[in-house]
Amino acid sequence: MILVTGGAGFIGSNFVLDWIAATGEAVVNVDKLTYAGNPANFAALADDPRHVFVRGDIGDAALVGALLREHRPRAVVNLAAESHVDRSIHGPAAFIETNVVGTFTLLDTTRTWWASLPAGEQAAFRFLHVSTDEVYGSLAPDAAGFSETTPYAPNSPYSASKAASDHLVRAYHHTYGVPTLTTNCSNNYGPLQFPEKLIPLMVVNALAGKPLPVYGDGLNVRDWLYVGDHCAAIRAVLAHGTPGATYNIGGNAEMTNIDVVRTVCAALAECRPGPDYAALITYVKDRPGHDRRYAIDPAKIRDELGWSPRETFASGIRRTVRWYVDHAQWVAAVTSGEYRQWVAQHYAA
Ligand code: NAD
Ligand code: DAU
Repeated sequence: MILVTGGAGFIGSNFVLDWIAATGEAVVNVDKLTYAGNPANFAALADDPRHVFVRGDIGDAALVGALLREHRPRAVVNLAAESHVDRSIHGPAAFIETNVVGTFTLLDTTRTWWASLPAGEQAAFRFLHVSTDEVYGSLAPDAAGFSETTPYAPNSPYSASKAASDHLVRAYHHTYGVPTLTTNCSNNYGPLQFPEKLIPLMVVNALAGKPLPVYGDGLNVRDWLYVGDHCAAIRAVLAHGTPGATYNIGGNAEMTNIDVVRTVCAALAECRPGPDYAALITYVKDRPGHDRRYAIDPAKIRDELGWSPRETFASGIRRTVRWYVDHAQWVAAVTSGEYRQWVAQHYAA
């Protein structure tokens, strides 16, 4: 079995669902259930003995150590994090706590346990850390995409905290020999994404007839990766990646934000015809320190591991918009905070 952290969040829950469907292998899923963690995301696994959910913090060494000793996972996949750049600008402390101190605690507890394993199990074990392309900073319009050797230049408290965690993972391989893997991916989108991020926010606001806030001039560029493709990439890296290596993962889909928002509006018009969604687009004050452009050079993961994304942005956004339209109850629960009340009640004892 494997131990996944952050498996109640957007990518984590997609990963757990994808992993069990694709491999049949059991998962211990450890998640703190912050505002971004939603048990409804893995409701489909409610009666599945291959999924064990534990509410807990990656910064809790006693809990992490006990879970490692009890379950003896062959891999840890670390997806737990504070993930929203805007929140990191308003309140960076939580990002340092989870992304830096929490990752350190998870890594160090794993190292201690890993060191006690027989040599064969030590060699087969993997610690896969999921990180972001934002650690590389901002690209000029005509610059080549980020490669695995691009120097780190994080610009937000979020990306600085992720960069710090990446450095710790690197050091734990170099110093202690822990068989680590690090992935740095671009902007994910797809089902189950909390509507604070650009694409789900635009879908949810458009369906509610609310303004679609576009920061600055709308010409910042991101590369968009369908979450199902990202899950497949993580599986490939876990199976065949070289210990100590890092892999950049992209969607081959660079777009300006305004084009993304217009594409969302067009997909909604196909799916739920009626209102002029694009008329809701509203330019608002820019994000402080807003990185202008991210792009991924996909050569290493393609050439070494044979992975490339399957979805185009056109196909992925249609699937995504359709999912939100078809899951009005999930959207209503998330936006009303109902699931947070449920979590508070359910875990009160
Ligand atoms: P998310 O915010 O949707 O989910 C994060 C999950 O981590 C939540 O379920 C939350 O409850 C949990 N969590 C937070 N602090 C925790 C702690 N201390 N202990 C245990 N669990 C905790 O994030 P996401 O978008 O799914 O991102 C997952 C990972 O992928 C993060 O490491 C993020 O940095 C990285 N990433 C995300 C994107 C993206 O576009 N979403 C892109 C690149 C990298
Ligand atoms: O690049 C990978 C990163 O992508 C991940 O590491 C982060 O966890 C993830 O949140 C995402 O960061 P971004 O800041 O790029 O994502 P966000 O969805 O917040 O914003 C995408 C772009 O859209 C960005 O240029 C800011 C802009 N934006 C965002 C929001 C929420 C708007 O114009 N309006 C908005 O309301």
